[in-house]
Amino acid sequence: MAGYETTDVPIIVRGDGCYLEDANGKRYLDALAGLFSVNIGYGYGDEVGEAAAAQMRELPFYTNWGYAHPRAIELASEVASLTPGELNRLFFVSGGSEAVESAWKLARQYYTARGEGRRWKAVSRHIAYHGTTMGALSINGIPELRAPFEPLVPEVLHVRNTNRYHRPQEETDEQFTAFLLDDLDQTIQAAGPDTVCMVIMEPVQNAGGAFTPPEGYWRGVREICDRYGILLCADEVITGFGRLGAWFGSERYDIRPDLMTIAKGLSSSYAAIGAVVATDRLTKPFMEDTKMYAHGITFGGHPVQSAVALKNIEIMKRDRIVEHVAETQDTFRQTLSQLLDLPIVGDVRGTGFFYAVELVKDKDTRESFDHDECESLLRGFLSPRLFERGLICRSDDRGDPVVQISPPLVAGQQQFDEIVSILGDVLTEAWTRVHR
Ligand SMILES: Cc1ncc(COP(=O)(O)O)c(C=O)c1O
Repeated sequence: MAGYETTDVPIIVRGDGCYLEDANGKRYLDALAGLFSVNIGYGYGDEVGEAAAAQMRELPFYTNWGYAHPRAIELASEVASLTPGELNRLFFVSGGSEAVESAWKLARQYYTARGEGRRWKAVSRHIAYHGTTMGALSINGIPELRAPFEPLVPEVLHVRNTNRYHRPQEETDEQFTAFLLDDLDQTIQAAGPDTVCMVIMEPVQNAGGAFTPPEGYWRGVREICDRYGILLCADEVITGFGRLGAWFGSERYDIRPDLMTIAKGLSSSYAAIGAVVATDRLTKPFMEDTKMYAHGITFGGHPVQSAVALKNIEIMKRDRIVEHVAETQDTFRQTLSQLLDLPIVGDVRGTGFFYAVELVKDKDTRESFDHDECESLLRGFLSPRLFERGLICRSDDRGDPVVQISPPLVAGQQQFDEIVSILGDVLTEAWTRVHR
């Protein structure tokens, strides 16, 4: 934070499509969609604003505690119609962390409501990011984020993520999947399966750099959860609402989760709204006798936020935003693949409009940069230079050093080319600096 004493904080004053403008009139291509979240881009403010204003006139606020209002009901039905399988029950919250927090609490209470005793442990993956509130933070697999706030909420077990790049090159998909599932199985067994309530994972893990699952992975995770009676939660805070070229990653990979967490793309971040989506089976025990899910948030399903989210979904359907990602994802991948010609780029991975470029010191050995090198390369050079060149993307070293690329879902070939052109120049310059 001390850096802000000597540098100005960029003040972003307006946006349109995939572009932003700061207080000095400088333009940026936002290749990160805010924070992986402005799925429809910045150009729909008028239309969404009208929906918000209409709701303000009709009913600016009322609670969903023991009451309901039309927009929350309509939004719940709309989302339930889009989510796969029996994911039909929504609990609204104000963002992704609250969604993860609420999913864990729901999973914990589910077993009690069924009279099955207590299960409280959660399983997530190393380096995964799931939010900042104490429960969600405890689920995070990023040691640097966890350590300053310990002791955390007991107990979370972390298993291997699907980082393929640093595995033996001759390993097949089948072998990699078996290796990962064995780790998951053993971790659950060691914890005591009847103490574990939930396995929570992103369809494609963001932190560490767009780790896609190997063939058979999700089928195996589902089987292990079923074997031990554990609930599976897909954290779709980033992957939901089109980022992977389908409405949800769960649909794309046939994950069949019992719970799903959503936020960012639900409103394209035009409003602060998220939700936990649960299957009918999961909510059934709460509907009996005097049982209840003892959890609630004042702003959950706020009428204005719900109206904004409804309008966002209407726009996404009308303007075929998800179809656009599905139709252009191959050309996006091909365009980004040009970066593999650079000596500093070891890997370009991801899917849909969700990518990471991993930076290496040596392409043949896949040797990474050490901590000090990352610090000077990413924070000292890449981030400021990309910003200077008007490209917003994220240099991240929560795992190995990567540049994350996740543009608004309305981006097209012109933006793909612009991303590669600027990134190409800056990464070429980075390589000469490393070898000076
Ligand atoms: C996968 C995932 N889960 C949860 C969160 C937390 O969401 P929020 O920042 O809205 O609290 C994030 C945020 O980036 C996320 O990427």
